[in-house]
Formats: sequence, structure tokens, C-alpha cells
Amino acid sequence: MQTIRQLKPLRKALAALCAEGGKLALVPTMGALHAGHMALVAEARKRAKHVVVSIFVNPRQFGANEDLGAYPRRAAKDSAMLSEAGAALLWMPDAEVMYPAGYATSISVAGVSEGLDGAARPGHFEGVATVVAKLFNQVRPDVALFGEKDFQQLAVVRRMVADLDFGIEIVGVPTERDEDGLALSSRNVYLTEEERQQARALPRALGMAASAIEGGGDVGEALARAEAALVEGGFQSVDYVTLCDAATLQPLESLDRPARLLAAARIGAARLIDNVPVMPR
Ligand code: PAJ
Repeated sequence: MQTIRQLKPLRKALAALCAEGGKLALVPTMGALHAGHMALVAEARKRAKHVVVSIFVNPRQFGANEDLGAYPRRAAKDSAMLSEAGAALLWMPDAEVMYPAGYATSISVAGVSEGLDGAARPGHFEGVATVVAKLFNQVRPDVALFGEKDFQQLAVVRRMVADLDFGIEIVGVPTERDEDGLALSSRNVYLTEEERQQARALPRALGMAASAIEGGGDVGEALARAEAALVEGGFQSVDYVTLCDAATLQPLESLDRPARLLAAARIGAARLIDNVPVMPR
């Protein structure tokens, strides 16, 4: 596997892969790789001959008071994992390569990026859409893979790709979880042992609310119970627990179409997000 940090050698390496024929897949990441990221790489290998993985801790998607400085960075271990998994190329630009002096362009996706994490983290999805558009233009993949773990991000990317005619197939990959149900996340390293135990309340609360709603229970009541369970379970605060249309992410008051139950809550130094499907019977 080649590791590349500048645009010119990237273009050269991509041209060489292109010359071999076959599809090219891109898996964008911010590194500190875990089994969730590796599930994307494995799925990419099934769908394309060549797999490019990017690692870039994108400053534009972090708010001023967020964890950009603390975000885990583990380039050597990441590189070994990707090499072992059969990635062809690791694209790891520095911030000056991604955003050179004078950089002035930003992509804003209305609607789907406005509620939920868009409301809790102003500017976050502009930062995500902008860097993903740049990665798409730099690598020009046939297919790109994103985790359902970041369900709103996946919806924002799908909307942007459709609206701007990128012509890239977007694949969503189900969330990888620890044995106790907690979704794998690079941010789980912020949790103390006790908080890690308490964090189980998040998938448990979502699972219980999803079953209650699928069983015909009142949506408002189920959401309120889930929120209370998070606080009782040890979360300091809950940003949202919301039932949404699975495609548009518009909030739903009753289960009349395929839906997604999404939550974000804070525990210790971490802000955790998770989501599960909720299907009408
Ligand atoms: P990052 O948090 O590193 O995640 C990279 C990809 O891995 C995302 O598509 C995310 O949804 C997926 N992922 C994370 N945890 C997962 C899990 N437990 N199961 C399945 N997939 C999981 O998301 C980003 O980086 C950035 O916003 C990025 C898209 C790279 C743009 O900067």
C-alpha cells in the first residue's frame, strides 16, 4: 500500500491504478481506525478492484469548542491495519494541502443538514460536505462508502452527490457495535471505564424505544422514556432523541413510513451519537 500526502503524486498513483482497469472505491475517514472503519474497507473491497482510504482530521467540521486538538491520531497503526486489509492507497494530506492559503469555498446542503446534529453543531455539515466534495474531486472514485453510524452525514452526502451530479455511487454500511451494543467510535477513547459501562444505556434506550414504537406505542411517550433512561443511565445531557423520516430526516410524530430513531447525548468528555431503523409493521 502506498501512502501519499501531496496532490501530484496522488494523481500519478491514481492514473496507474486506472490503467490496471476495474472500479475504484473511496473510504473517507479521520483515522484512529476501528472495526467500524474496517467494515467499510471490507465492503469496498467487495465492490471495487482498488480501494483508496483517506485519513484527514478535517478542521472545518469541528466547532470552536469541540475536540479537534484532542481527536486521536494514530497514523502508524492505521496504516498497518489498512495495508493488512488490502487497501491500495492511503491518501493522507496535510491541512495546507487540503486548504491552501486563500481557500474560500464552502458547500452547504440545505434541509437534511439543518436539524439534529446540524442544529447542535453549527457549521459541522458544511465542513463535512466541503471536505467530502474535495475528496471526491481529488480521488474521483466510482463508489464511496459511509457508515450508517453517522446517519445524517450519509443523508447529507447522498443529497450533495445527487444535487451536484457527482456520478458516484454512495453505499451506506450498517453500524459495527461492541458485544454490549455500543456503536464503535473513535471518540469512545474519551470514556473512563465507568462511563464506558454507562454508555451502554444509549443503544439500550434506542432499542427499547424502537420496539415500543414498532409495537404501536405512542411516539412522544417512547422518546421521553428513552431520554429519561439516558439520564438515569449516567448521561449528563441529551441533545436529542428523535424519530425521523429515514430519507429526508424530517421529524415524525407517528410511524407511517420507514423511519430512523436518532440520538445524541453527552457523557464525561464525550458526545456520543447512535441510531436504529424503525419500520412500520
Ligand atoms: P470518521 O468518524 O473517521 O468515520 C469515517 C467513516 O466510518 C464514516 O463513514 C463513519 O460513518 C464510519 N463509521 C464510524 N464508526 C462506524 C461504525 N461503528 N460502524 C460503521 N461505520 C462507522 O465520518 C467521518 O470520519 C468524517 O466526517 C468524514 C466523512 C471522513 C469527513 O471528514
